[in-house]
Amino acid sequence: MSFVHKWVPGSGSGGRTLLLLHGTGGNESDLLPLGRVLDGDANLLSPRGKILEHGMPRFFKRLAEGVFDQQDLKFRTAELAEWIASAAKQYQTGPVTAVGYSNGANIAASLLLSGQATEFDRAVLLRAMTPFEPEVLPDLRGKRILMLNGTHDPIIPPDNSKHLAALLTKAGADVDLRWTNTGHGLEQGEIVEASEWLRTNMEKDQPR
Ligand code: MLT
Repeated sequence: MSFVHKWVPGSGSGGRTLLLLHGTGGNESDLLPLGRVLDGDANLLSPRGKILEHGMPRFFKRLAEGVFDQQDLKFRTAELAEWIASAAKQYQTGPVTAVGYSNGANIAASLLLSGQATEFDRAVLLRAMTPFEPEVLPDLRGKRILMLNGTHDPIIPPDNSKHLAALLTKAGADVDLRWTNTGHGLEQGEIVEASEWLRTNMEKDQPR
């Protein structure tokens, strides 16, 4: 079990890592510039999704837009969780924050909802929707999640994102769901919001 990936060591002495999960058609290089803007000092760890949809990498199969192959999602979520755990050891990542966009945000949400987000306590979900309906909610107390969504996103229905936020909150996570008057693409202002959120949450993590 391995993933094509990039590891970019950070300049900071703090030893923290952003786990970058790209959207459909992206790859392991795609989100590196975003990661660097979000956190100038963090290590960056960025795997490439193994599914190819008409040549476009993804993290799990879908049957149609917004309709996910649940069996594959389950398998791919467990596979990614295992890889993240081994990469965290190999690279000595320190605290990890997941940052996912679109399909990458959806697999991050799947890791959280399936209780397999053991390597990260923070997540920035950019344009995420509900990947599956959990039969039993995991215990997500202590997890902090920022969700940034577009009110006019043609791919991610707002009610679906609200449902995901409600599930994560019910599971005990501290969820900050924010909306921008835009579509599926990210706005510059949202990137600023995400980096501020990361900084604030890093400060919360400092030992007193
Ligand atoms: C998905 O398939 O995960 C979502 O529809 C978002 C995307 O288009 O990748």
